[in-house]
Amino acid sequence: MTGRAFVGWQVISAGVVTLALAAPAQAAEAKTPTFSKDVAPIFQSKCQKCHQPNSIAPMSLITFQESRPWARAIKERVMTRQMPPWHINQSVGVQKFQNDMSLTPDQIDTIVRWVDGGSPQGDPKDLPKPVALLTNNEWQGVMDGFGPPDLVIRSSEYTMPAQHQDVWYRPMSEIPLTEPRWIRMVEIRPTNLQARKILHHSVAYQVLNPDNVQAINTGIQDSRSLSPTQLTADDAVNRRPMLMEWAIGKGYDRYMEQTGKLVMPGEKISWDQHIHAVGEEIAGGSELGLWFYPQGQAPKKRSYLVGFTGIKSRGKDGPYLDIPPNMIAHSEGFTVLKEHTLITNFQPHFHLRGKAMLVEAILPDGQTQVVSHVDNFNFNWMTNYIYAEDAIPAFPKGTIIHVTAWYDNTKANKNNPDPDQWVGYGDRTVDEMAHAWMNVVYLSDAEYQDWLSRHGGKPGVPNVPRQTTQQQ
Ligand code: HEC
Repeated sequence: MTGRAFVGWQVISAGVVTLALAAPAQAAEAKTPTFSKDVAPIFQSKCQKCHQPNSIAPMSLITFQESRPWARAIKERVMTRQMPPWHINQSVGVQKFQNDMSLTPDQIDTIVRWVDGGSPQGDPKDLPKPVALLTNNEWQGVMDGFGPPDLVIRSSEYTMPAQHQDVWYRPMSEIPLTEPRWIRMVEIRPTNLQARKILHHSVAYQVLNPDNVQAINTGIQDSRSLSPTQLTADDAVNRRPMLMEWAIGKGYDRYMEQTGKLVMPGEKISWDQHIHAVGEEIAGGSELGLWFYPQGQAPKKRSYLVGFTGIKSRGKDGPYLDIPPNMIAHSEGFTVLKEHTLITNFQPHFHLRGKAMLVEAILPDGQTQVVSHVDNFNFNWMTNYIYAEDAIPAFPKGTIIHVTAWYDNTKANKNNPDPDQWVGYGDRTVDEMAHAWMNVVYLSDAEYQDWLSRHGGKPGVPNVPRQTTQQQ
């Protein structure tokens, strides 16, 4: 008796449920975005430069057939703003960039509704015209429309065995120039796609022609210097002229308009490439692409690359970091600006436990401003956030750049190889470090006053609204 009643209730209730939902389900279906019409244009503009056969991502997102199996993962990655890899906090600090690849809230909404609606293909006739495929291992600068570099300088390759300790590979390369040239933009890339797995970072130091001493940066004072005449290791690094620092996930450095770096005949590149083993033998090195100002054209100012530290030191013992097992930890560093300074970009640098980095400016009057905050850091993505020209902040001489770095040494961090290890400061990928790579330009008193007069007398981050430059 009870059994039969139960069965009957199920039947009836199933019928009721179906009837009750029929009308709204049809309405929702009409609105469900389709791959062909709504999603493919977003993938074209925001995903495909990496998600295609010749690029760096693990799968292609060009056709419906290729994309459909990834629907759930796509929804998860776009909702958490892990993909596209643009991890900067969108409510504090500089909010307008030259190379913003993030999705707009509308685009996220479209993708999420497509997945929730069963990821339909729609009518293939609605598909946008396909974009041309890249050549293998393409420069980010080419993908973003700046054309091929004017000069490419290549390092020799190192063959990393499947299992090995980290290696710092430091060959030299000639710069084949017969006349001085000013650089507008630089990019480093691994010499081949496979090498992207083993190359953690690569720095191209400039071995100077003695006539190019102005390439040495004297405009910052690291808080760890024991006295102004005694340089710490970091101070020395920041004075050593660098053409570029590249790390996994980074694209190019494009300098502020009318600024750049000078390269002269007879100069060399001294490479510092950090290579780690990944379980298969891979050979790789680095290539430096240089985009020049037109021949004979000199920009007004030098641009200097600074690694603002996120870690204090214990005097001459150097940087000190203490990250206990299974804990979130943090560290801080302070650097004094000795000149009026424009900051033109932000690129956080960490190793595997990196979680978040906040750059603040403490102005001479005590006021504190957020410059940039990456609150969602992922080891695979040392993304370079290049400020839009009208969003570049200026700080007066005496301002302190305060970098706070957080580390996640718990198992919640998917990149953590072993949460039970204590982690300290060091150069290996399993050790930690934290700095904010930023290109700076120094202003004279008159130039700084002029900048202030154009910004309502207020130093720091200009108040310009957020805007993505690569919206579809
Ligand atoms: C700058 C290059 C780049 C862009 C732009 C990009 N991706 Fe990715 N994506 C990658 C790389 C490299 C990986 C693998 C490393 C990782 O997981 O971070 C990846 C991983 C993923 C994954 C996880 C795959 C897995 O193995 O689970 C998904 C899903 C994804 N991307 C979706 C997207 C979508 C959707 C877009 C555009 C809205 C996008 N990506 C834009 C480079 C990119």
